[in-house]
Amino acid sequence: MKILVKVPATTANLGPGFDALGLALNLWNETEFSPRTDGQIHIQVRGEGQGKIPESAENTIVQSALQLYALAGQPCPGMDIHCLNRVPIGSGLGSSSAALLTGMLGANALLGNPLSEEEVLKLAIETEGHPDNVAPAMLGGLVASIVHEGRVISLKLPARANRSPMHVTIVLPGFDFPTHQARAILPTTIPRQDAIYNISRAVLVTEALRTGDLDLLGKAMTDALHQPYRLPLIPGAQAALQAARQAGAAAVALSGAGPSLIAFSAKADEQIGKAMQAQFVAAGLPARIFALSASYEGAEVTIL
Ligand code: HSE
Repeated sequence: MKILVKVPATTANLGPGFDALGLALNLWNETEFSPRTDGQIHIQVRGEGQGKIPESAENTIVQSALQLYALAGQPCPGMDIHCLNRVPIGSGLGSSSAALLTGMLGANALLGNPLSEEEVLKLAIETEGHPDNVAPAMLGGLVASIVHEGRVISLKLPARANRSPMHVTIVLPGFDFPTHQARAILPTTIPRQDAIYNISRAVLVTEALRTGDLDLLGKAMTDALHQPYRLPLIPGAQAALQAARQAGAAAVALSGAGPSLIAFSAKADEQIGKAMQAQFVAAGLPARIFALSASYEGAEVTIL
């Protein structure tokens, strides 16, 4: 028996929805799990992160799989794990959430699904510490999350799927900007007008994505809580954001905590990515372009 786990990339925040909104993207990690009986765990990583992601007990997929075995109260009989990664690591595209979910979903399937999907999601959110990547990776589409009496509630919101597809351009500069650092630089208190700025826009971002109104998305997908502090620390990012708008993107934001930027447009237009890339290159950084779309499907587990 083999288990195939597919988990999508995700973009968090979508401008004003800091730690609350996330969207799944059509870029998928595929991981095969095969059971062993000798207690050993072997993991092999191909694609994004190959040679950088540890192929040892420190690997996030291995650790999260073992976490699930422990929670299910079962000893792990061992497994072989083969990863084909397409989500770039350290990019602001949810690679760590994808790895967490992959390990948990793979182990849960090998055990015959003792945990429900909801329980796996809860465990992944608790482990990650914030829901805005894990929840859309699991559920697909546009997901909003709140913490209510200590528990996370994540809801997949209606978003226009195929009637007016939105094109997504991600530009990823070669710049190390770890999430813990990108969070540590944020202020711990905020002025009331910044809170109002974000609350009002976050509501309209969800409405713009529901109706496919890119004009509204362009007006609402701005932020006062994190981007003003993060963008100046990423060389070329502010200029790349402006260049995307000038090249015709309807809306542009930092993807998650960065360093990548996400631009939305009505048509696939490679000039948007190239204009952003040129600004990073001018600031001394190489930059990769990914032409994507939103995914209305979330993580998938298949028994092969
Ligand atoms: N909402 C998080 C942040 C996403 O902006 O810090 C990072 O994964």
